[in-house]
Amino acid sequence: MTTAFPNGFLWGASTAGHQIEGNNVNSDWWAREQVTPGMDLSGDACDSYHRYGEDIALLAEAGLDSYRFSFEWSRIEPIEGRFSRAELAHYRRIVDACLEAGVTPVVTLQHFTTPQWFAEAGGWSAPDASDKFARYVAEACTVLDGVEWVATMNEPNMQAAIMTAMKRMQQSADGSWTSPTVEHATDEERQRASRNFLANADPEIGRMFVRIHHAARAVVREKTSAKVGWTIAAGALTAAPGGEEKLAEIRYGKEDVFWEGSRGDDFVGVQAYSSQEVDAHGLVPHPVSPDNTLVGTAYRPDSLAMAVRHAWEVTGGVPVLITENGIATKDDEQRIRYTDEALQGLHDTIEEGVDVRGYLHWTLLDNYEWGHWEPTFGLIAVDRETFVRTPKPSLGWLGDVARRNALA
Ligand code: FCB
Repeated sequence: MTTAFPNGFLWGASTAGHQIEGNNVNSDWWAREQVTPGMDLSGDACDSYHRYGEDIALLAEAGLDSYRFSFEWSRIEPIEGRFSRAELAHYRRIVDACLEAGVTPVVTLQHFTTPQWFAEAGGWSAPDASDKFARYVAEACTVLDGVEWVATMNEPNMQAAIMTAMKRMQQSADGSWTSPTVEHATDEERQRASRNFLANADPEIGRMFVRIHHAARAVVREKTSAKVGWTIAAGALTAAPGGEEKLAEIRYGKEDVFWEGSRGDDFVGVQAYSSQEVDAHGLVPHPVSPDNTLVGTAYRPDSLAMAVRHAWEVTGGVPVLITENGIATKDDEQRIRYTDEALQGLHDTIEEGVDVRGYLHWTLLDNYEWGHWEPTFGLIAVDRETFVRTPKPSLGWLGDVARRNALA
């Protein structure tokens, strides 16, 4: 059996603006970092705002041919309705740096962060949120000439899960995020509730995101010739004995509303890291194992193929681009092993007939992981004082896979 991938298969790495650029001072995340106890600050991040040229060169020299990065809405529109020509030109320069290096740019228009003014005006639940986003997307389209792959949003389903948890928190009498009845819960019940913090997403919120995505998609289609889709966090969830009903409930609100919302898109971004069981009470904690990742999840490279099969089924055959897959580990050998196994599984799905267009590893650089610097997902280490980049063996390994377009 050969492990060659289809001709023209994209091989690359993914990043997100807030995690690598530094000093995104007008975003809601920046504001949150300043006031949330226990959160590390993003600060200068990896200074990729200035060093993107070096990042793209390292990726291309290693043998990779595509780079996913995001535009920062809060830089482009720091004040409502006031668009910065200079920032749009900045993102155009990143696109050009890719094209000049023979690297296919994959652009995410919104990766978790929004401008602080947008958040203060009610965020995604504000009645005019879709119009505001569409207006920004129209401006972003002015610098997308020659870009073939555009994702409107990153993981709207995680954003929906956060909104659902926040809503519950506001509704609860004592200000805690669990239901008031949990006051009488045992320690074990509390622990389970805390692990299930982001387990659910209200399907109504999901449907709202689908409408916003479809409006943005129409703008991208009108103004560019890019393929357009969005990227979805895949839980690769399975039922423990007795958990079938709960699995269906969780998976619908948290994922399937979004996969269904991809129908009619040109591609869907699949993002998978681990797999988890659901029993009658909700998510089952990841079993303790020395192989667990730095973010506490199980070592499950098979989650990628599981996620791809599920996406293919629920979208009804929308072409798949792997926009994220990787592992938080200090052990780069483990990263290589994980990626190799994940790619073997991905290859199986292609053999089964799934239309997979490419694989973008999360992530190019050790970066700011949403409140924490500790989890290292990168193919390249970054010194946070000097910003010196040091490629890890996994970068060369993945570059070799890309050059061969096959696993060894
Ligand atoms: C995904 C996010 C990405 C990063 C990885 C580890 O959920 O899209 O920004 O945090 O997980």
